[in-house]
Amino acid sequence: MTGGHFYSDTSIPDLYRWFATETASSPTWQQLSTWIAQTEDIWPLLDSLPGKKRQPNVFLATLRYLEGPTAPGADFLAWVQQHWPEIRAVVLARDTQTNEPGRCANLAPVLSSLGEKIALIEVGMSAGLCLFPDRYGYRWSLEDGSTVARGQDDVAVIECAVTGRSPVPYELPNVVWRAGIDLNPLNPSDPDDAKWLRSLVWPGQATRERRLASALQMAAAEDVVRVRGDAIEQLPSLIARAPQDATVVVMHTVVLAYFQRERRIEFEAMMADLPVRWLANEADRVLPGVAERIPSWDGPPSFVLSLDGQPLARTAPHGQFHHWL
Ligand SMILES: C[S@@+](CC[C@H](N)C(=O)[O-])C[C@H]1O[C@@H](n2cnc3c(N)ncnc32)[C@H](O)[C@@H]1O
Repeated sequence: MTGGHFYSDTSIPDLYRWFATETASSPTWQQLSTWIAQTEDIWPLLDSLPGKKRQPNVFLATLRYLEGPTAPGADFLAWVQQHWPEIRAVVLARDTQTNEPGRCANLAPVLSSLGEKIALIEVGMSAGLCLFPDRYGYRWSLEDGSTVARGQDDVAVIECAVTGRSPVPYELPNVVWRAGIDLNPLNPSDPDDAKWLRSLVWPGQATRERRLASALQMAAAEDVVRVRGDAIEQLPSLIARAPQDATVVVMHTVVLAYFQRERRIEFEAMMADLPVRWLANEADRVLPGVAERIPSWDGPPSFVLSLDGQPLARTAPHGQFHHWL
């Protein structure tokens, strides 16, 4: 995860070479990114995109959104050249707002330990699919070979491998109120927003596609408070709207990397002062105060789950595992 300057300041071949390493789990995107990094004829178009709009993930999702080709070669280049005005318009209108309900497999056990009634506020909610940790089905497979199954199978079942010693019971939280903030909250019942979210799933990730489709359908029928705006500006007034008889938890997953560093420091300081519990699931160095407390790790790429600034676990990007620290 990388901030705006990286996208504006890095050359197109370097950006796509980097993205090819990021997309090892999606051979289609890896091959296409590698080809783009080597194909000079496409660079001027991609280079004409402004600032953070040069982010490879947004261009590649746009190909899916416009139902364009995804295999590298001359036909691909011709299609991009011919459709560039449409491509550019989508890239300028949209951002990476990937909404991954699988992350709830890492959030739910901690949330259930925080109180009998949870008022859940999500910073960077996208379409708000992580505001429903009580609504998915889970299969947590533990190190001793046993499985803990919880929740309903009718929306989505999330499989998660658990290692390390769990400090929490594997139960589902009782969420009595849900609210979120986003610079651009997406609406799960809007067909265009739903199509963009589906386009953001990398090709070949069928389990994620199915899970997203059923989570969108579930969330479309639910009532959630959606606040448009910047998290730091909107959070205090949103907290004041939460029910008084519930534990208020401010949660965010894979959001703070999109803030400038000074804003992250400001956000961290604000969270220390607010009368709420604070559950964060972010990359290693994103929260400076959490980063200095993280034990060393030589496992696979992961995020850090922290509660009130204390690291609790290492988590997989889409909820596939967590390792208690
Ligand atoms: C990668 S998405 C993650 C969505 C969701 N938390 C999840 O994990 O599935 C990051 C979201 O953060 C939002 N965001 C970025 N900066 C923000 C800010 N300053 N205030 C509010 N939301 C922000 C983006 O619009 C985007 O929807």
